[in-house]
Amino acid sequence: MRRKKIYEGKAKVLFEGPEPGTLVQYFKDDATAFNNQKQGLIAGKGVLNNRISEFLMQKLEEIGIPTHFVRRLNMREQLIREVEIIPLEIIVRNVAAGSISKRLGIEEGTILPRAIVEYCLKDDALGDPMVTEEHITAFGWASPQDLDEMLQLTLRINDFLNGLFLGIGLKLVDFKLEFGRLWEDDQMRIVLADEISPDSCRLWDVATNEKMDKDRFRRDLGKVEEAYQEVARRLGVLPEAGPVDMKPPKVMQ
Ligand code: TMP
Ligand code: ASP
Repeated sequence: MRRKKIYEGKAKVLFEGPEPGTLVQYFKDDATAFNNQKQGLIAGKGVLNNRISEFLMQKLEEIGIPTHFVRRLNMREQLIREVEIIPLEIIVRNVAAGSISKRLGIEEGTILPRAIVEYCLKDDALGDPMVTEEHITAFGWASPQDLDEMLQLTLRINDFLNGLFLGIGLKLVDFKLEFGRLWEDDQMRIVLADEISPDSCRLWDVATNEKMDKDRFRRDLGKVEEAYQEVARRLGVLPEAGPVDMKPPKVMQ
């Protein structure tokens, strides 16, 4: 199938959708870390993240969280609503790991006194710097109302996903969300966008604390593919045929 490419990121490509206001989100196997300094492939990752993100967004829709997700189209693609992405990465932390441990000297694995929300500006050239609400509202990346709405949604998502993952023996250590503005006849709604997957979450096995997410790639821990497959298996979305491949669509010039 021929499709017009709208945008290509590090792990996904967006193509023009079949109807106005829709896009096709294609999941690649490419993996990057540390703002693109480390690059690699995780075989079958795109297939699994497509399923995992589909599953989680559907569950979130069921509890009333609006998302950009419409339906999965095939192994690597899903139909989404076109939104205006708010240029922020919203990070929620339940357990200290990664950059908060480094920055503040908190030992990895320390349970945080409460869920901590951090905002980073989505800007690869600047290395996604952390910003405060002051910066966000002063520079107009989001209004105070938008921020309040995103924070409320984020905390609901965190509570829900904590329980969902705990039910399959995984600790939701931290994760990153992105939101977008969806316009419907002059009315604007903020909806969850992007993806939720082991690329954007830290997930540790409850019994062994084994890392089951992209940290296996970032830190060269091995068994990267296996970790993504295990998360998919526990969620009940591992494709029976395994991550069977499909060719990317031909791009129209
Ligand atoms: P951090 O500890 O590196 O700040 O990451 C916190 C969480 O956010 C972790 O689950 C990974 C996720 N994340 C992304 O999805 N994209 C990013 O660019 C970064 C830096 C983190
Ligand atoms: N995805 C980001 C990058 O490419 C960071 C990360 O997930 O570690 O650099």
